Amino acid sequence: MKLSGKKILLGITGSIAAYKTTYLVRDLIKAGAEVKIIASPSALEFVTPLTLSTLSKNPVLSEYANTSTGEWNNHVELGLWADLMLIAPATANTLAKMAHGICDNLLIATWLSARCPVWVAPAMDLDMFSHFTTQNNLNILKKNNITILEPDSGELASGLTGKGRMQETEDILNQIIDYFTKDKPLKGKTVLITAGPTYEKLDPVRFIGNFSSGKMGFALAEKAAELGAKVILISGPVNVMEKHSNINRINVVSADDMFYAVQEHFPQSNIFISAAAVADYKPENQANDKIKKSDDRLTLTLTKNKDILKHFGNNKSPNQVVVGFALETSNEQENALKKLLSKNADMIVLNSLNDKGAGFQSDTNKISILFKDGKTKQFPLKTKIEVANDILNEIITLIQK
Ligand code: CTP
Repeated sequence: MKLSGKKILLGITGSIAAYKTTYLVRDLIKAGAEVKIIASPSALEFVTPLTLSTLSKNPVLSEYANTSTGEWNNHVELGLWADLMLIAPATANTLAKMAHGICDNLLIATWLSARCPVWVAPAMDLDMFSHFTTQNNLNILKKNNITILEPDSGELASGLTGKGRMQETEDILNQIIDYFTKDKPLKGKTVLITAGPTYEKLDPVRFIGNFSSGKMGFALAEKAAELGAKVILISGPVNVMEKHSNINRINVVSADDMFYAVQEHFPQSNIFISAAAVADYKPENQANDKIKKSDDRLTLTLTKNKDILKHFGNNKSPNQVVVGFALETSNEQENALKKLLSKNADMIVLNSLNDKGAGFQSDTNKISILFKDGKTKQFPLKTKIEVANDILNEIITLIQK
């Protein structure tokens, strides 16, 4: 059985979709999972404890204590017991309470104690779902590693049609099976990625920047998360959004900001991919007031930024993998190899501005990967998502050696 031995803590909250969850309980049990259910008090207006306990083969918990027996329902133990906690359906109210830590029932208390991955399957009317408060709350949850099972569009209990229907229970079940059974080679690994440009401030309104779009770094973040990693994505100013809930994005502006953000997260990371186009220099002085035009010539003095890749390449522990990028316009291989050695990287991903479709802004890239042992692997022109996959596969081969 596909879910044999897996412990699922199922939270049910007060939505009409709660009746559908009874089918999910039945299917989880059929697939071999052990299921414990915590229902919010209002969920029990939609489904009875008897139905749920019969299907799950476990008592249904809802209150902190069972007043007739004097027993306490230990939310900490429950939170630690589960391999996966799923709240389905998750109402707008429960999502809001989760986002703000409002702990007024056993379900939220258990969630606050859970150390396992947590998924929510929102179910509500379309206007409630698209309301800015719900969307803000979902964003807070997503940023904090909660997986959102996006609701489907269709006919709603209100009679309106739109986005807000809880996903079909077969689809939820399949995602749970996938989660537990799919080969995820980066599961348990933390991948730290820098992406995008850095902006170096000249005065309150101007900066020195570059044309990096952040697409390559974001593609790496998405793929690494899909492969099971916990991703910390430190991004300069870009117009790209991260999607996967395993990505924790940290926004920075300057090379110095990026350095300190990497410094904070590097020790806990297994893999560091330096995909950002970090500015090599910054203005020596930042003007407090806007620089006025006066003379015909203006000379700026720039000072060198810290080389983030080099610093952490030289300070890595033997089991950390560090990967850099090189964007070259001439003597590509030779320059990239120099970078690999001087920055003490395990791999350098080389892209040449001479290749059509490679480099900044585009959705495609053509890379070669240089390794410490002097070997080079060349890849054809591909989308940045495919390129990200190739790079991560090489990293996986390296860590499995
Ligand atoms: N990099 C970095 N910090 C810097 C500059 C670069 O972490 N201050 C990283 C980039 O993220 C990339 C790699 O170093 O992974 C290569 O950057 P690149 O700018 O091509 O190389 P430089 O060392 O700056 O050399 P040059 O500009 O002379 O080519």
